[in-house]
Amino acid sequence: MTNLEMGEPSNPIAKRVGQAKDALRRPAAPGVQRMLAVPLGSKLTPELNHTEKSELAIQAGCSTLGAGGYRSKVRLKPGHSALDWHELVSGKGKKQGLVVGIEKLLNEDFERLQHLNHPQSLMQLQRGVPTYMIRPPLRIDKEMLQKHSSLDDCWCVIRGNVYCLTYYFDFHPGGVDILLKNCAGKDGTKAFEKYHRWVSFDKLLETCLVGVYVI
Ligand code: HEM
Repeated sequence: MTNLEMGEPSNPIAKRVGQAKDALRRPAAPGVQRMLAVPLGSKLTPELNHTEKSELAIQAGCSTLGAGGYRSKVRLKPGHSALDWHELVSGKGKKQGLVVGIEKLLNEDFERLQHLNHPQSLMQLQRGVPTYMIRPPLRIDKEMLQKHSSLDDCWCVIRGNVYCLTYYFDFHPGGVDILLKNCAGKDGTKAFEKYHRWVSFDKLLETCLVGVYVI
């Protein structure tokens, strides 16, 4: 039942809350949930036509603005909430790290690794120490990075660190495609800063750390 059917509340704040609730009950666009960072009609929102407005839902308190002023969050698969990610990190992640592509690195880039890295780091890598625990951290260059650019083996640089995104993909609130396009096998720092420079990627991806990026 809408607020209109129940009778409009006279209190302007109650009216606003009612409008927001009605908007949230409307079905979102198939597959993708686009949400407004500020209520419709606010001076901060872009001019939208009627159809666009009806596709959008209001979400109070959201923090991330995509280009154009509306959110482009995706609907995450069941079992892929922020809490589920936290559980994966603190279980499997802490024990063995959430990194793929190490075998390929050892097979294809051993000479480069030797040239760039401290022997202690390589020894730990060969003994199977999770890469996020290796000290001094592994040093990875552009040539190595570029070889890990597919969905099932994807490395990316954010602010000087190399992370494996393969486990994280399905947990990313912005979706897989945007990560693949902007990050796979390359430096995604610029794109990251554009969308949400305040996100604590270093905490979120702690156990996905491959090493540091060397230019
Ligand atoms: C690789 C490290 C990244 C991590 C750990 C990460 C993490 C996150 C988190 C936690 C959110 C939710 C933010 C919120 O609710 O306010 C988010 C949203 C989002 N991210 Fe990322 N992100 C990463 C990289 C990127 C990159 C490189 C892009 C763009 C090319 C991107 C695009 C987005 C978009 C579009 C959203 C949804 C925006 C919205 O809230 O409307 N992310 N990301």
